[in-house]
Amino acid sequence: MNILVIKSSVFGDNGNSSALVNAQLDALKAQHPQATVVVRDLSTDPVPHLDGDRVSAFFTPPEQRNDEQQAVDAFSLALIEEVKAADHIVLGLPMYNFGIPSQLKSWIDHVARAGITFRYTENGPLGLLDDKPVTVLAARGGLYAGTENDTVTPYIKLFFGFIGITDVTFVYAEGLNMGDDVKEKAMSEAQATLAG
Ligand SMILES: Cc1cc2nc3c(=O)[nH]c(=O)nc-3n(C[C@H](O)[C@H](O)[C@H](O)COP(=O)(O)O)c2cc1C
Repeated sequence: MNILVIKSSVFGDNGNSSALVNAQLDALKAQHPQATVVVRDLSTDPVPHLDGDRVSAFFTPPEQRNDEQQAVDAFSLALIEEVKAADHIVLGLPMYNFGIPSQLKSWIDHVARAGITFRYTENGPLGLLDDKPVTVLAARGGLYAGTENDTVTPYIKLFFGFIGITDVTFVYAEGLNMGDDVKEKAMSEAQATLAG
């Protein structure tokens, strides 16, 4: 059992999403004591922003890549290998300015690779990775889940589905900036969902 943990709070382990990630990890480790865990904390170890040079590196045929382009490709492939090797992915997902953290977007930009994690067919895109459970711990200051303003949930489902991963479960802690009582209730309800 390999668990891939992806934390994307700018506050590192102090983030509310990271607290939920750690709670989910504890629950999984209790169920699978032999599990190996790979942690990718995107705040302490950020993935570079996608730019023209990096996209060119992806699109250049392997035998024509220069050293720098090879390094870009190798870095992206290492991120993809972590996803492939995982039996379960635990993703911390803060909401910042109505969307996902830009650090997480950079990670997605290095994992969504044509010909490697998906390919286009006559019938549309085909995900190339094996399906596996993904638990998403979504932390928000306000209330969005189940409303049309929650553009993050469909986006994350779309991304994972695009690369072949459809078993995605969301746990929400919302209203975290709506007073201490609301926050405490939301966090403890989310933690109880994970423990259960
Ligand atoms: C820069 C910034 C932007 C934020 N934007 C939103 C927002 O658009 N909607 C919302 O509900 N909460 C927003 N929040 C509140 C966060 O969603 C909340 O603090 C949550 O706990 C973030 O997860 P984290 O603690 O794991 O980083 C924002 C927080 C920060 C720091």
